[in-house]
Amino acid sequence: MSALNAEITTYEQANPESKRLHERAEAVLPGGDSRNSIFWNPFPVYITHAEGTALTDVDGNVRTDFVNNMTTLIMGHRHPDVVAALHEQVDHGVSYPAPSPHVIRWGEILCERVPSIEKIRFVNSGTEATLNAIRAVRAYTGKTLIAKCEGAYHGNHDAIQISVTPPVDAAGDAESPDPVVMFPGINPGAAEDIVIMPYNNLEAAERIIRENAEELAAVIVEPINGQCGMVPARPEFLQLLRDLTKELDIPLIFDEVISFRASSGGAQEWYGITPDVTCFGKVIGGGMPVGAFGGKAEIMQLWDPNSGPDFVQHAGTFNGNPMTAVAGVTTLELLTPEVYEELERKGDKLRQMIRDLIAELEVPMGVTGAASLFALQFTTEAVTDYRSYATNDKQMLQTVFTGLLNEGILMSNRCAGNVSAVHTDEDLENFVEALRRVLVRAGYA
Ligand SMILES: Cc1ncc(COP(=O)(O)O)c(C=O)c1O
Repeated sequence: MSALNAEITTYEQANPESKRLHERAEAVLPGGDSRNSIFWNPFPVYITHAEGTALTDVDGNVRTDFVNNMTTLIMGHRHPDVVAALHEQVDHGVSYPAPSPHVIRWGEILCERVPSIEKIRFVNSGTEATLNAIRAVRAYTGKTLIAKCEGAYHGNHDAIQISVTPPVDAAGDAESPDPVVMFPGINPGAAEDIVIMPYNNLEAAERIIRENAEELAAVIVEPINGQCGMVPARPEFLQLLRDLTKELDIPLIFDEVISFRASSGGAQEWYGITPDVTCFGKVIGGGMPVGAFGGKAEIMQLWDPNSGPDFVQHAGTFNGNPMTAVAGVTTLELLTPEVYEELERKGDKLRQMIRDLIAELEVPMGVTGAASLFALQFTTEAVTDYRSYATNDKQMLQTVFTGLLNEGILMSNRCAGNVSAVHTDEDLENFVEALRRVLVRAGYA
């Protein structure tokens, strides 16, 4: 039996109730699923409750959560202050057909902390954040073309679901990647409005941006690329994008939906590079559905309902709703610079311990990440961009992912993870020991 099949057999035996629920789910949800990022074969586990770092499933298994709802729950599950704020807000009403005062405080915190933010608007997902940021720069510049990096996920909408995980043999030259529409149903014309740059490649990015400068409405980049395994941009790469877009008068968008974990001012503060527009999600809503986009006042002014004929319309039943606002404000107020320092210390420590284990067992894999973010890479190549990420051994990835589930550890289904403020050093050591047992079972000893 292969190591993967052995892990799957153990998994099925330990999770009979999740399996039964998944069969029930399949009758009403395609594949039993509503969210690809939490789907895995043979079936996902169904969670009943969460506390701190612990997730309990319907079979009574308790796992240490290294996903934190895809980087969202930076203070862990059910932080008492966030729970109290939500309880209080429930007593005052969950949504209103007029603004609540909380949304102002929320905006003030982000404007104070994030270097690029002069004005901000709230939405309900990171997808809506990038959708509106792209609309913003198109409205502002009167142009359409967007430059994005190969292997970058910026949300689930047509304009940007291009070249996220393209088959390498259909993606053209590594130095001049072709735009690849990710799946059927996306407007094929969307690929004509995008140019693709290789991440972290200064020469190629400069050439591509200069060649298209006249048409570009924006360059969008994730300072720490989540899709390829929390891969940090080389500082020179971000600096080049900043210098070049300034010189050519092209707005620069940072997608900080994940990287807002790096410091209280986001990755832009961490790198010391300020974009024109920033997209947020995840952390800023304290666990509630959220997104936001903001930036220079002269761009954001287009959203002012009194701005005249150029006004960009933007409704949304739950935009800035009070439940998300109170959870967001409470979480952001808990996030002092000391908390970020400690998160980064734990991230550095965990990555180093994983590196040491890989060297000791001589496993053909690596680890990427920055600040509190990390990912296992099942390749001996240094992963710095999409093409190097695409060399991952997918079978080994699934073996380790399933093995860790059997060991009481949850990572994302792409073996990415992150630490929260409530993970202890002991949790990190337990992670590494669990990984050791999985790798030994897979034949590395
Ligand atoms: C970098 C980035 N941008 C945008 C999004 C979309 O956010 P949401 O899932 O809230 O729509 C994600 C989601 O993971 C993301 O990682």
